[in-house]
Amino acid sequence: MIIILALSTIAIGVLLLFVNREVLPPKDLTAERCEQENAPYLNSELSVEERVEDLLARMTEWEKIGQMVLIEKNSIRTLSDIQRYNIGALLSGGGAGPKINNEPLSWLQMISTFQAEAQKTCLKIPLLYGIDAVHGHANVLGATVFPHLTGLSATNDADLVRRVAEATAEEMAATGIYWNFAPNLDVVKDIRWGKAFETFGSDTARVSRLGVAYIHGLQDSSTGYYKVLANPKHYIGGGSMEYGTSRNEDFQIEEGNITLTDAEMRRIHLVPFANAIDEGARVIMVSTASWNGIINAANPYLLTDVLKGELGFTGFVVSDWYGVYQVAPTRYESLVTTINAGIDMVMTPFEYKDFMSNMQQAVANGDISNERLDDAVRRILRVKFETGLFDRPEATPEGLSVIGSAEHHTIALEAVRKSQVLLKNTKATLPLPVSVKKLVVSGASANNLGRQAGGWTSEWQGIDGDTSITGTTILEGIKETVSADTIVEYNQNGDFAASGELADIGIVVVGEKPYAEGWGDNPNPSLSPEDLSAIEKTKAVSKKLVVVIVSGRPLDISAYSEDWDAIVASWLPGAEGGGVADVLFGLHPFIGTLPFSWEI
Ligand code: BGC
Ligand code: BGC
Repeated sequence: MIIILALSTIAIGVLLLFVNREVLPPKDLTAERCEQENAPYLNSELSVEERVEDLLARMTEWEKIGQMVLIEKNSIRTLSDIQRYNIGALLSGGGAGPKINNEPLSWLQMISTFQAEAQKTCLKIPLLYGIDAVHGHANVLGATVFPHLTGLSATNDADLVRRVAEATAEEMAATGIYWNFAPNLDVVKDIRWGKAFETFGSDTARVSRLGVAYIHGLQDSSTGYYKVLANPKHYIGGGSMEYGTSRNEDFQIEEGNITLTDAEMRRIHLVPFANAIDEGARVIMVSTASWNGIINAANPYLLTDVLKGELGFTGFVVSDWYGVYQVAPTRYESLVTTINAGIDMVMTPFEYKDFMSNMQQAVANGDISNERLDDAVRRILRVKFETGLFDRPEATPEGLSVIGSAEHHTIALEAVRKSQVLLKNTKATLPLPVSVKKLVVSGASANNLGRQAGGWTSEWQGIDGDTSITGTTILEGIKETVSADTIVEYNQNGDFAASGELADIGIVVVGEKPYAEGWGDNPNPSLSPEDLSAIEKTKAVSKKLVVVIVSGRPLDISAYSEDWDAIVASWLPGAEGGGVADVLFGLHPFIGTLPFSWEI
């Protein structure tokens, strides 16, 4: 009896030790492998593959595991954890900027501080730092805020899309960030999804063509390494998730299920990713969708057979926010399943200590093989070398002047002009004469840069009325465009004094408030009662009525549109509201075409 008791106490003790085991990194900074200044992997003359193999051969298992984790920077408990756990990659979640302020210099300093910490590790492997610069580097104060991809899609101008991405990459690189979680290549079949505005729309061919242009804009450079690493997402099929199938009780579509045959999945959704890979995409982010009941991150057919096998993808596969931990009841099982399915880097995005110990255990148990571990790390290192992380000169404060530069604002303005879609035009209402005598302007989106910019601006969800964006509202654009003699009256709610005489033109700018992801899932995207009231009141005091819609997707206006003389889809134009005014007044033609079908 006593023996049994003693034995079980020991067993429990051992078990507890195992569960709570503090995983200690090897303290071998003086080891020979750390001291080789002339190590081949540091030699930029050698090929990427030679450098990868040399570096991999020096790494401990602990260091390899560290390369596979992607952590939201605000969850780093103490800075030194970066070296202690050999963390390989960090990200800023939406709006997660420096603690002191949001100035570009603070961003640069923040990134440099993280990188300096990584330089204290034995092998000095630089961090990959990622961010959602999905319509410009719009988390950063003063950055150029471009139209979201829906608007860029409306331009259907691949060269322009390339230039927008290039400008974005320049602003990112100035802050020392070389990894953009963009472009979004989802092909959206249901505009009720909150991610619709992040995409090039519903047409596979257009998504492919513009997606490729965007990737070239981010990556191409004359240096031998990428300007900024592109990251097509979300692999795969999210645009066909069914309403009401979300695993998340707060959402309807996001994290939902897709019912498609293999042939449909390939025809509708795989094409943009296949093209992206052919044109140089090196990181693919996996969607949190499920396909016929299997979460994508746990699907070896999608990740290993199709992506890495058939498409010959040799870059790395990263999971989405908390995406891996949704597949099984325990984190251990989740990691084993998804890493074996083909995930190479895990956006945990919080817990790194438990990632490290679960992975160590999985390798020790043989649940994840050493070959799989090496394959994942090899892919990540390869992309780190290709991105020039070991070689490129450090970003300096002098380089920050490119952020929000006049050149970039000019590109943004061009994008806004070309993205305006004329949905209706009767009574020869548009273009408006610049010398119009009297204009009344109303609507909650008329003088609101936060609404023009939408989600993923300053904050994850964007900010209604954001005053931190550098730019021009549509109202300001109108005022700058009309003749000196034109009278422009503005009232947000359309409460204009009844003077007896009607205004020549009423312009009402209405639409959606900012949102992102599942929080934007909406059973019926439409106008609010306030918007409709502003339209009614403005119509009552105007000879002709123009309704401008600032939204990430088509809105249901079919019950009212007959009463409006002209209707314009402006999408989420971002900083340059003057571009909307330019086409309203005919200084530039309407050339935008619909990224989604829109029955008015
Ligand atoms: C989104 C991704 C984004 C990631 C990091 C996720 O919730 O689905 O599109 O890149 O967060 O912010
Ligand atoms: C982050 C985003 C992320 C989202 C996912 C937010 O807290 O800021 O980057 O996409 O969470 O739920």
